[in-house]
Amino acid sequence: MLLNLEGVSKAFKGLKAVNSVSTRLEEGKILGLIGPNGAGKTTLFNLITGVYPPTEGKIFFDGKDITSVAPHARCWMGIARTFQLVRPLPELSVLDNAAIGRVYGRDPIRNRSKAEKASYETLEMVGLAARASEKAKSLTLVDRKRLELARALAAKPKLLLLDELLAGLNPSEVLTSMALIQSIRDMGITIIMVEHLVKAVFGIADQIVVLSAGELIAEGTPAEIACNESVIDAYLGRSLHA
Ligand SMILES: Nc1ncnc2c1ncn2[C@@H]1O[C@H](COP(=O)(O)OP(=O)(O)OP(=O)(O)O)[C@@H](O)[C@H]1O
Ligand SMILES: [Mg+2]
Repeated sequence: MLLNLEGVSKAFKGLKAVNSVSTRLEEGKILGLIGPNGAGKTTLFNLITGVYPPTEGKIFFDGKDITSVAPHARCWMGIARTFQLVRPLPELSVLDNAAIGRVYGRDPIRNRSKAEKASYETLEMVGLAARASEKAKSLTLVDRKRLELARALAAKPKLLLLDELLAGLNPSEVLTSMALIQSIRDMGITIIMVEHLVKAVFGIADQIVVLSAGELIAEGTPAEIACNESVIDAYLGRSLHA
């Protein structure tokens, strides 16, 4: 197992944003994490990346207990993420933004020109190489999302957490991004994707976890989850069956 969550909770004052969540993720798989707004999906990412420690429970990554490991050290160990609200450094070039991942990630390269060369390859993967020298602030939302992914990939992650990468993309951009996510998985990188575009996530995920009000209410293959009555009631409605 690459990731193992054991009874993980996070409370903000009285609110249990994540409530005793346990799940396991095998290496080389895509996990789709779905659920209504405020269900605790981003909070779970913050717990896995170490933004804050859980109030209860343990997190194991690659066989090690990382519950108390600092965020930068988790990055060195191979956990990288994209943010729901994309925030590149606006005055830096697209290439320099991607290179940040290479300098602070797993197996880091401290030499600037080598880091830039390695990062350029991730820009090629996401289709941004032609804009490498532009300032990040000149990019459209779609391209900022691509850059966010390139920066995360430049960190050479074993586990990649994607927070609503497909939100705001048009249908053809969604298809391109889905193919890209699958090709990243085929490189051996394990992925957790938080996504409201249920049809997209069901199309590429190996395993689905459904959160509702902080609790894991269902877990299984996309086919199993699609016919789970409590998930349909809590979240899916008729969207998959329309
Ligand atoms: N830093 C924080 N301080 C206080 N409350 C927080 C904090 N972060 C999240 N919350 C609360 O925790 C709950 C879960 O939020 P979270 O952002 O994890 O949901 P989400 O599933 O990612 O939702 P969305 O689909 O809208 O992105 C919400 O009620 C939110 O208001
Ligand atoms: Mg969120």
